Amino acid sequence: MSDMNTAERIRQELSALAKFSATEKGVTRLPFTKEAAAALNYLDKLMQEAGLTTYPDASGALHGLLQGKGSQRFVIGSHYDSVVEGGAYDGIAGVVCGIEIARHFAPQELPFSLEIVAFNDEEGVRFGGGFLSSKALLGELQPEELQNYRDTKGISCYEAMQEAGYAPERLSEAAWDKDKIVGFLEIHIEQGARLYKEHLPLGLVTGIVGMRRFDIQLTGRADHAGTTPMTLRADALAGAAPFILMAQRAARERKSPNVVATVGVCEVKPGTVNTVPASVHLTLDVRSLRAETRDAVVAECFNVLEESATDNGLRVSWQEKLSVAPVNMDEGLRERLRQAIHEENVSYMELASGAGHDALPIARKLPAAMLFVPSKDGRSHCPEESSRPEDFSRAVDVVIRMLEDWSN
Ligand code: GLV
Ligand code: MN
Ligand code: MN
Repeated sequence: MSDMNTAERIRQELSALAKFSATEKGVTRLPFTKEAAAALNYLDKLMQEAGLTTYPDASGALHGLLQGKGSQRFVIGSHYDSVVEGGAYDGIAGVVCGIEIARHFAPQELPFSLEIVAFNDEEGVRFGGGFLSSKALLGELQPEELQNYRDTKGISCYEAMQEAGYAPERLSEAAWDKDKIVGFLEIHIEQGARLYKEHLPLGLVTGIVGMRRFDIQLTGRADHAGTTPMTLRADALAGAAPFILMAQRAARERKSPNVVATVGVCEVKPGTVNTVPASVHLTLDVRSLRAETRDAVVAECFNVLEESATDNGLRVSWQEKLSVAPVNMDEGLRERLRQAIHEENVSYMELASGAGHDALPIARKLPAAMLFVPSKDGRSHCPEESSRPEDFSRAVDVVIRMLEDWSN
C-alpha cells in the first residue's frame, strides 16, 4: 500500500467505507448502529496502518494519535455518521484525509502531537440534536442530557450508547484538555456549488452559519372526514401548514443565500385518507451567519404557529434540540493555511459555510479552520454526492505544507 498515491488510496478507502450503509441507495450510517461500528472498525485499522495509536471514547468517536515532542496537540477530524440515503463523502472524507496527513508524518516526531478524530453523530439525524462527539470533547454535554434525545422508535441516545457497548455515564471522561490543543482543522466537501461553478479546487472557510433546531408536536383530534363539519375540526395538519410556509417565507424575505429555514420532518397521524389528522410531528432547522437574523426567523415561525394552533383548536409543544451561534474561523490558522496554499500554488477562494460542521461548536472554544473541496453540481445529503480524489489529495498537501511550515 505504501507506493499507492494519496488520491488513489483516498478513492479506495472512501469506496470501501461507503459500503458500511444500512441502505442500498446512498449511504445511511446512523450513530450506534452496526454500520457505524463496522466503519469504525475499518477506520481503526486504517489509523493503525498509518502509524497512529488509536483509542475510542465514550461518545463513539475514534481517535488516532501520532505522538509529538511536546505536550501540545493539533487536531484534525470530521464525522463518520451520515444522513439517511446521503453520500459517500460528507464527513467521512475529512477523516480519511486526516489519516493521510498523519500517514505522511509518521513515525516522524513533530513539535506537537497530531490527533486525528472520527467524530460521531454530527448530523443529529437519529436523535434530533447533533455534534454529539464534538460537544462531548469540549466538555459541553452531560450524560443526563442524552436521555432527552430519542429516535423515532423512542430509544434514547443514552440507551443506544449502552446497547452499542459504550458507557454513557463516563461521557465527561471524553473531554479534551483544551489548554493543550493548539488548533483544530476540518477538511470537508463544500456541499454547495460555489467552488464547482468557479472551477476552483479548494475553499478556505471564513465562518460557519449558526443553527437552531426544534422538534414540534401539534395535537388536534381524529374525527371522521366525511361527517365532521369543517367548523368542528381540530385538524393538526391544516394547523401546521401556515408554519411550514412561514419558515419558507421568513427565510426568503431575508434575500441572503446564508439565511435558510427548513421543515424536514412532517409526520401525520393517523395518516389515513378518511380521518382528520389528529397530530403532526414537525422539525424546524434555521440557519444564518447572523444570530439575530436566525432568531428573528425562528420567532416569526413560532408566532404563526401559535396563531394557527389557536385558530385550529390545537395544542402545541416544542423542544429546542440544538442552538449553536455562528462562528468565524480563526484568523491565525487561516493565515497559516493561506500561506501554505500559496506555496502549493493552488487556486482557491474564501467562502462561508451554510452547512453545520464539528468545527462549528469547536471554533467557539478553540482556534479552528476548515478547508472545502468542491462538490460536483453542489449536490450533498443525497446519493449523487461526488468529489474528486485529487481535490482531497490537494487539500491534504496543503495541510501537510502548513504543518511543515509550522514545525520549522
Ligand atoms: C450537517 O450536515 C448539517 O449542516 O445539517
Ligand atoms: Mn451532513
Ligand atoms: Mn458533514
